This record gives sequence, structure tokens and C-alpha cells, in this order.
Amino acid sequence: MKTVSANQHLNVHACSLNEYDRQKITISGAIYRIRKLGGGLFFIVIRDGESLIQCKLESNESIISIEEYSEGDYVSITGICQKENRAPHGAEIKVQSIEILSKSTEEMPFSINQKLFEVGLDSNLNFRPISLRHPKQRAIFAIQSAISMLFRQGLSLIDFTEIHTPKLVFAGAEGGANVFKVKYFERELFLAQSPQFYKQMMVGVFGKVMEVGPVFRAEPHETSRHLNEYTSMDLEVGPIKSFEDIMEIETYLLRYIFEELPKFCSAELKLLEVSMPQINNIPIIKMSEALEIISKNRKIKDRSDLDPQGEQIICQYIFKETGSEFVFVTHYPTIKRPVYAMEDPENNEVTLSFDLLFRGLEITTGGQRIHDYKMQVEKMKRLGYNPDDFVSYLQIHKYGMPPHGGFGLGLERLTMQLLNLSSIKEACLFPRTINRITP
Ligand code: 4AD
Ligand code: MG
Repeated sequence: MKTVSANQHLNVHACSLNEYDRQKITISGAIYRIRKLGGGLFFIVIRDGESLIQCKLESNESIISIEEYSEGDYVSITGICQKENRAPHGAEIKVQSIEILSKSTEEMPFSINQKLFEVGLDSNLNFRPISLRHPKQRAIFAIQSAISMLFRQGLSLIDFTEIHTPKLVFAGAEGGANVFKVKYFERELFLAQSPQFYKQMMVGVFGKVMEVGPVFRAEPHETSRHLNEYTSMDLEVGPIKSFEDIMEIETYLLRYIFEELPKFCSAELKLLEVSMPQINNIPIIKMSEALEIISKNRKIKDRSDLDPQGEQIICQYIFKETGSEFVFVTHYPTIKRPVYAMEDPENNEVTLSFDLLFRGLEITTGGQRIHDYKMQVEKMKRLGYNPDDFVSYLQIHKYGMPPHGGFGLGLERLTMQLLNLSSIKEACLFPRTINRITP
């Protein structure tokens, strides 16, 4: 029987190069740059899935003719690995042979081998498979990958169970008009706006659950903070004593993510010059206090929500007062929160809910949910919903649920704020907006 071992052909990746000093190895990747040094000496820099690899070709000594190769060609290079402090990863390869695995047929639409990535957002997105190859673009998603992995890991450590819930659903959970309809054979379904109902159902099973998955919002406008499909990092947990338990879990989790992140992507964090936030205790203010603070700066038209400028004012104020780049704003008005939101027993005009703002932008909404059957049915009727349409969801209330709550954290929003990107589209591999559905 044939077996495949990872090192069978010593096909080495960039980051482990320095373990192979004076050995014959094979690497493969795309030609990133060919540099002529004079005296028949060339550097062929290869970009593999991890990083860059410097290969040295002395054409006088070799039968390889450099003219055959161009930027973008995907090649396999065999040669002797040798220490070289000036090369990436402290080693380079003295080339003995090159095999072209795939020849690039067109010139690149823009250069991806310059230090800076100076391509406009439209070209960046139109040529996404190419632009993402630039080390700085790639770094955004290496960091994003580590964030979502650490979200799951941080919650696994405190006994959360990962779940996978349907994205074709019978009802939009978050209310509002921004729900996509889907023809489903002879019926109509919706694309999930969030895993809300299902994660609540699963609290009745596991107690602590989490999900990282796509959600859909039919936002009929282009903004720098909205996508029509994004990745939501959700958790839901019960029993809880109060909605403040949820904020505590989020504080723990963000601290965990930011402490661990450099262990997984320090090179990328350095490349993008990321300033890591310090998280101690995150300040908490009520919505009513937030509105007071904003009203000192400007007139408030709508007292039921914070607009983008209001979020910025609050973050600047909190940073000045406490040094924190995060702030929880609590007790959002009942009229602005979905049907499942628990109202404050002391004042039913506000909910036991919160938003987390980071560097001037909402990244999370969370709160306590209604667990009582009568209360939930009453609220549905009050808001104009027909409880008969929610029979399967209402099973949890009917058959006993612990007091519970949770939150949804937008992966692209968190990435965008951490990396100081000017549009959320830069934090999404293949963004979907009202005007963009390709690639
Ligand atoms: O504030 P949202 O709509 O809340 C919910 O989905 C609730 N089910 C959460 C909960 O568990 N109570 O969305 C949560 C987060 C927002 O704070 C934001 O980070 C992100 O999802 N988000 C978007 N990101 C990109 N594009 C959009 N159109 C987004 N809408 C929300
Ligand atoms: Mg929200």
C-alpha cells in the first residue's frame, strides 16, 4: 500500500526553511519577483502560502535560462538550503532546478510585489483573487482567521459547545425590513439574519453554545460599515443571573483573543503596524447617560439609538476619561430591540441589553432574552407578530427555559477596527453589497 508522508519530498514551507541548513529541498510557490544582481546572479523570490522565500540563481554556472520565467508563474524549485541572515526567515535556496507547474498567461493587473499596496478599493475588489496575494492584504485575513479561531478556542476553554444552525429559515429573527427572501421549491423562506432563535433553542440543550457563521442582511445601501453577508460570532448561555454576566463573558473573551493573537500572527500584526488594545475592565454606561454626553456636543434628533457620529463621541469621551478603547452602552430602548429582548422590570421602555463600541463603532449587540412563555407571546402580539408563525421557536418557552442571554460579534467589524481599515469591505474576502456580487 502506498502511504503519503508530509515530508516525503521535503517540500518545505517558508517558515520552516531554517531547519534545513545544507540540505537539498524542494519548495513551491508563485514567482513574486525576479531581481538581477549583476555578474549573472539573480534572486528569484517565491511566495508560498506562508511567506516569501529567497532563491539564488547563478546563471553562469547553470543551464537554467532566467528568461523563461516571469512574475506569477507557479514553480517548483529544488536546491540547497543555506543560512543567509539578510533573507526572509534567515535562509535562502541555491537553485539547482526549476519546474514550471503553471505558467501565468497575462501580466498582473497591478503589482503585488511592492511594499505598499496602493490600489484603489474598486480594483482591489474587482481583482480580489490577485489583490489578496499581496502580503498586506493576505495579512488582514491571516489575522481574521486567528481571531475566529481564538473566539472558538476561548469559549471552548470555558465549556461552550460549538453548534451549526440553518441559514435557510422560516422567519427573520432580528425584525426590520432587511431580510432576503428565497424561493424554496413552492414555498418562501428567508436567509438567516442571525442564528438567534436556534442558539436560544440550543441553550435548552447544552447551556452554553457558540457559532461562527454567515448571516445575511438586505441592507439597500452602501456604507463603510455594512455588508449584506457577514460572519457573525455568536454565543448564548443560560442560566444567567443578569445580562451583566454576558458582558463579563465578552470581556474575558476579548482579553483572551487579544492576548493570544500575537502567538499566531505576530508577523502579520507587525506588517500592518497594528496597535493592540489593552483590555482591563470595560467601562459601562447607560444609553441615557450616553445621550447626555452627546447632547453636550451637538443636538440629538433621535433619542432611541446612537448614530455613527454619536458612537464616535462616546468612544472619544470614554477614552479621555478612562483610557479604554471599548465601552459597553446598556439599556437600549425597547422600541429599537427585537421581539426576543427582555425588558427591564423596573422600566419597560428599556431592555436588558447592550452594545459594545470599539474605537468609535458598534461591534456587538447582546442582552438577556425573554424566557417566559406568556411574556414572549404577549410581546409578540404587542409588536404585531402572530405567535402562530413562531410555534417551533415558542417550544423553548413552553417547555421550560433558564434565564439566558448572549451576543453577536461581527467578525469583519472587529477586524476593521483592530486594523484601522477605512471600509468594512477591506475586512471581507469577497464582499457582498447592493452593487457588488462578484467575484
Ligand atoms: O446588532 P445585530 O443586528 O444583533 C444581532 O444580530 C443579535 N442577534 C445579537 C444578539 O445576540 N443579541 O448584529 C450583531 C453585530 C453588530 O454589532 C455588528 O458587529 C455586526 O453584527 N453587524 C454587521 N456587520 C456587517 N454588516 C452588517 N450589515 C451588520 N449588521 C450587524
Ligand atoms: Mg446592533
